[in-house]
Amino acid sequence: MASQLALLGGEPLRKQPFTRWPLFDHRERAQLEEVLSSTTWGGHPAPNRKASELAERFAAFQGVRYAIPASSGTSALEVAIKALGIGPGDEVIVPAITFAATAYAAVAALARPVFADVDPATACIDPHGAEQLITPRTRAIVPVHYGATLADLDALCEIGRKHSIAIVEDCAHVPGARWRERGAGAWGNLGCFSFQTSKPMTAGEGGMITTDSPELEQRCQSLINCGRRRPGDTFNPPLLGANYRMTEWQCGVLLAQLDRLPEQIEHKSRHAERLRAGLRAVPGITALEREPRVTREVIYLFLFRIDEARLGVSRNRFLRAMRAEGIPCGLANQPVYRSELFPMASWLYRTACRLGGGEAAVPQECPNAERLFERELVAIPHQLLLGSDADADDIVAAAAKVASFAAQLSTATLERES
Ligand SMILES: Cc1ncc(COP(=O)(O)O)c(C=O)c1O
Repeated sequence: MASQLALLGGEPLRKQPFTRWPLFDHRERAQLEEVLSSTTWGGHPAPNRKASELAERFAAFQGVRYAIPASSGTSALEVAIKALGIGPGDEVIVPAITFAATAYAAVAALARPVFADVDPATACIDPHGAEQLITPRTRAIVPVHYGATLADLDALCEIGRKHSIAIVEDCAHVPGARWRERGAGAWGNLGCFSFQTSKPMTAGEGGMITTDSPELEQRCQSLINCGRRRPGDTFNPPLLGANYRMTEWQCGVLLAQLDRLPEQIEHKSRHAERLRAGLRAVPGITALEREPRVTREVIYLFLFRIDEARLGVSRNRFLRAMRAEGIPCGLANQPVYRSELFPMASWLYRTACRLGGGEAAVPQECPNAERLFERELVAIPHQLLLGSDADADDIVAAAAKVASFAAQLSTATLERES
C-alpha cells in the first residue's frame, strides 16, 4: 500500500515540477531580433513579411487554401461569424462546454447563440442534438474541437449541407490536428485557432482563420484590417471592420513555434497513449479514447472521466488529492451559460436574443455538459505530457494512489471543500 495521501498529511508522490509552458529557444529570439531590425512591427501598412510567411506556412500545415492571422482566437471567431454575413435575427449553435468566446462571437454580431449538449464520450458537440436545434433562423454551427479530440466532422458537415448552414470550426485547442488525414479548420466553411499563452502553439496572444473560399478570405482580411480592401478584392458591399491584426512580433514567434509543433504533437500523443494504457487499470477512471478518424491527435487538455460510484470518492475530492500529490490537474470548461464570463444579464446578450425574436434566453438544459463539468471530467494540461515517460507514469501512479485511498478520502474531514 502506498504511503498516506498527501492531502491527508502524507508525502506527495511527486515533488519536482513538470515541463513549464511556454517553451522557447534561440529560434524565437532570432525571429524577434529580425522583426526588431526590420522596423516593420505591426500588421499595417503592408507588406508584412512575417504575417505572409506565417499565413502561407500555416495554411499548408492545415491543408487549407488560405490562413488569415488575427489578434486572438476570440477576434478570429467574431470575424468568421461576421464574414458569413451573420447578424441580428440569426441563430448560431454552439456547444455548451467551451470557453465563452465561442458564444461571444455570435453575440458580437448581434446573433443569438443557442447552446447544444455535448457527447459524453468526446465532450464535443453532439451533432444529432445540434441538428434538432436548427430553426429557420439558424445560420451556423460552431463545433469546438475540445481538449484533445475533434467533433464529428463527417456528421456536422453533412448536417451543414443538408440544412444549408455554415460550419465554423473552433480549433483553438488543436493546431495541427487531422480528421481522416485532412486538417482541422479545412472541413467547415471556416476554422478559427487561438495562440493564447496556454495553447499548444503560442505567441502569448494571437489567432488564425482558415478557409478554402476566396470570397470568405477577402471578407476576413477586410474585417480584421479596419474594413480596408486590397487591390483585386471583389466582394461588395464594403464591410465595417476593426483592427484585429496580428503584429509581426507574434507572427515571428509563431513561425518558430510552428517549427517545433509537429515533434511536440507526436511526443504528447505518445504520452497520451501511455496515460490511457495506465489509467485503464484504475477502476472508476475512464480516459477519453482517441477517435479513430482523428489521424493526427493534438493534446491541449488530456481528459478523463471519474465514475464517482465506482471510484468511491467524488471527482472534486479526487482532484484535490491529485493536486496535493503534485499533479496540477483541473476542471474542463463550465457550460458557457453558467460561466461568469458569459453574464446572461448583459445588455449585449439580451439585445442579441431580443433581435432574434426570443426572450433573453434561458438556455435549454444540457444534461451531459452539466454532469461532465460538475462531477466527471478531469483535465491534465498538455505541458504535463511534454516531459519524460516517468512524468506520464507519475500521473498514472498518483491517480492509482488516490483511488486506493478512495474510501478514506470520501469520509475524511477536509479543511475546505472545493
Ligand atoms: C475553445 C476556445 N475558443 C476560443 C478561445 C479564444 O481564444 P483567445 O483566448 O485567443 O481569444 C479559447 C481560448 O481559451 C478557447 O478555449
